Parts: sequence; structure tokens; C-alpha cells
Amino acid sequence: MEITMSNGSGAGLEESIRLTREGTDYLEREAFDEAVAAFHQALALNPESDMAEFNLGAALAGLGDLDQSMAVFRNIIDRKPDVVETHTALAAALDAHRIPRFEPGMRLPATDALDAVIATYRQAVDSVPVLYGCYSTLAEILNAIGRSAEARAMAAQSEIFNTEIPYALQNVGATMQHPGDLSSALALHRNVMAMAPDHEHMTEQDYLKTDLTFSDSEITLPDGFEVMMEWERPIMERSAEIVCHNQGDVLNVGFGMAIIDTAIQQHGVTTHTIIEAHEQVVEKARQWAEDKMGVNLVHSTWQDALDGLPLFDGIYFDTLMPPMLPFLERVPAMLKKDGVFLYFQSMIQLENLETMSGQGLGFGIEFHPFDDIPKNSYYRLTEKTPDGQYLAPLFVYQKLG
Ligand SMILES: C[S@@+](CC[C@H](N)C(=O)[O-])C[C@H]1O[C@@H](n2cnc3c(N)ncnc32)[C@H](O)[C@@H]1O
Repeated sequence: MEITMSNGSGAGLEESIRLTREGTDYLEREAFDEAVAAFHQALALNPESDMAEFNLGAALAGLGDLDQSMAVFRNIIDRKPDVVETHTALAAALDAHRIPRFEPGMRLPATDALDAVIATYRQAVDSVPVLYGCYSTLAEILNAIGRSAEARAMAAQSEIFNTEIPYALQNVGATMQHPGDLSSALALHRNVMAMAPDHEHMTEQDYLKTDLTFSDSEITLPDGFEVMMEWERPIMERSAEIVCHNQGDVLNVGFGMAIIDTAIQQHGVTTHTIIEAHEQVVEKARQWAEDKMGVNLVHSTWQDALDGLPLFDGIYFDTLMPPMLPFLERVPAMLKKDGVFLYFQSMIQLENLETMSGQGLGFGIEFHPFDDIPKNSYYRLTEKTPDGQYLAPLFVYQKLG
């Protein structure tokens, strides 16, 4: 098990880390008295060191002081955020930002309460390996001393915190589908990941050199992976309505099948900037732009294009390939007052929410309904509403004045 070395800070931190290492060496050599002494000293300098405390519990167990050992593990558990509770709280906090429909002139609510919940949720996600270690060690000790019913209960708890959970909890889409129901959220997450593995092994540089195939209904990679699909049209058209909320200066990153850009044109915006990096797509975009108004087509990756661009009233981002976080970091400084940034992501990533939190932006989530998808192997929130539709979450951020 991997446990964080330390969360503390200050002058004693380095010494605490050194003592923890020393204690761990003693523990490995079964010199339990010396190990206990070293961990106590380490904890006196940094009481928040999970590793010193966890290993103190192990050393006490080695000495045969099982009551003290179990008390240590229980103490660590008590200090950690309750994962199920924070899961419920995050779903509720996101739900509080649900809007029926973004309307022009609307002022989205600030995110102070959500920011706090996101920070606690992060702590809960990060504490999962520690909780797993504490529960499973408690189960072993209880089993060894014949308290088998308690041992079974502890083992069951440890299974809740298996090693897949931190990864799965990062995908907030499942959390929103199952507020307060961690196991169903995890089951959904596993199910959709098995159906639709990402192309995360492909770097953006590789993608940009890859030959794309274009048809009326999709753009695909040589292995058939879909870059863009026609069924996303209603989501793109609704997104265009939102980014064009004041018919001002609009930026779209990722031209794809021209769906959103064609829709943006229909809103009569002042300027329409498009950033597209793939050579073949840029060629399509050039032809498309020949009879369009106010289009500034930038043939570049967004990473190279952002410096020097003006401020925008509306920004839409959809490049498919990671990384997305560095773009999100740039967004607040790219928006005019009341400007709106929007992205659509079916399995929402915790990191995205974290990056946008604490920025003083307004935030709303609009769920856009759309119909079934032929050969549904892509859409990652596989559950439908009772009336048989899917819901696309549109994440709308607004620069508050
Ligand atoms: C999913 S498609 C966008 C679809 C578009 N929203 C539409 O309505 O048709 C993603 C696009 O982003 C482009 N892209 C990928 N990485 C990029 C980058 N770093 N900078 C600019 N464009 C990029 C891809 O070539 C592709 O055309």
C-alpha cells in the first residue's frame, strides 16, 4: 500500500520524514520498540503524517499491543473524510448549480459552496488507499485474535475502498447519475469505461499526424475510433446558442465536422474565431469559410494560438484529445465581463471542476436531452431518462462582473 509521506509543513517536517524512514527500517527488521519510538517522535513533529501513524499501528501490532494498534488505525479512519458522505455532498452541490436552460442575460450563481465541497471531495478521494490499509489491517488483527464477526465487517469495509475507487471517483458524471449511491456510481463507471476506452494512449502530436477518414456521419481514426459524430448535432446546436448569447466575439476550439461553427454563423456574431490544428480538418475549414462572414481561422494548436487573441464573449472548447486542464486554466483571463465558457463532457472529470473552482466564476449545468444513438458504443453515460432520452451535461462558466 502506498501512503502519503506527510501533509504537514514547517521546520520539523524534514526531520519527521527522516524519523519515519528510520522507523520504517526498524519495522522491516522487526525492531518494534525502536520503530514505535521513531514513529512517536515523527508524529510529535508532524501529527498529520499518515505514513508515520499507519506504521506506528503496524509496529504496535508487532509488539503484541493489539488494543493500542487498533486504536491507532481507528484514529486514522476517524480523521479521514467520509467518502460516501462527500460523494453525496458533491452530487448535491452540483445539483444546486443545475439550471433548466441558460438564457441570454442570465447571471449564473457563484461557486463558493461548491468550491468547498470539491476540496473536501478531493481529500476523500486521496484518502482511499489509507482507508483501505487501515480497514484491511484491522480485519487481519481481529481475525488473528478470534473476533471473526468484527473482522468480517472490517474486511467488507476495506472492499468498499478498493484501489479502483480513487480513479473511478474522479469521474463525476457517474456521481451525478447516482447521488448518494457510491456502489451504483462505481458500477456505472466501470461499465462505461469497459464499453468505451479512451484514446488516452494516443498523444495529441500523434493524433495530429494521423490520417483521418471523413464521411457524412463521422470523422474517424484508422482504427475506427470516432473523432466526431453527426449524432452530436443537437448538442452542438444548443451549445452554439449559449456561446452566442450576446452575438459578440466568439471562439471555437476544434472545427471537426463544422457542426458548431455552422450553427454559430446562424447567430450573426460580431467575430467568429476558430482554432484548428489538424491539417486535413484545416483544409475542410478553409473551404467551409470561403462564403462565411467574420471568420478568423487560426491554423494552429490552441496551445500556440492563445497568446495575442482578444477577449471573448463566448468560448467553446472541444478538441477530444487531452490535455484539457491547461486550457481551462487560461479561460478566466480570456473572457470579457459576462462572457461565457462552455464545454460538453459526458463523463465529467473531477480535475476539470477543480481547475475551474476558486476562480470567482459563475457556474451552471444544463442537461440537454437528446435521442438514442445508433450503435451506442461511444456515449459514456449509458443510462437513459425514464422517457428514453440521454442527457448531455453542458458546463457553463461565466465571468462575473
Ligand atoms: C471533436 S472535434 C470538434 C467537433 C466540433 N465541435 C464540431 O461541432 O464539429 C475535435 C477537433 O479538435 C481538433 N484538435 C485536436 N487537438 C487540437 C489542438 N490542440 N488545437 C486545436 N485543435 C485541435 C481536432 O483536429 C478536431 O477537429
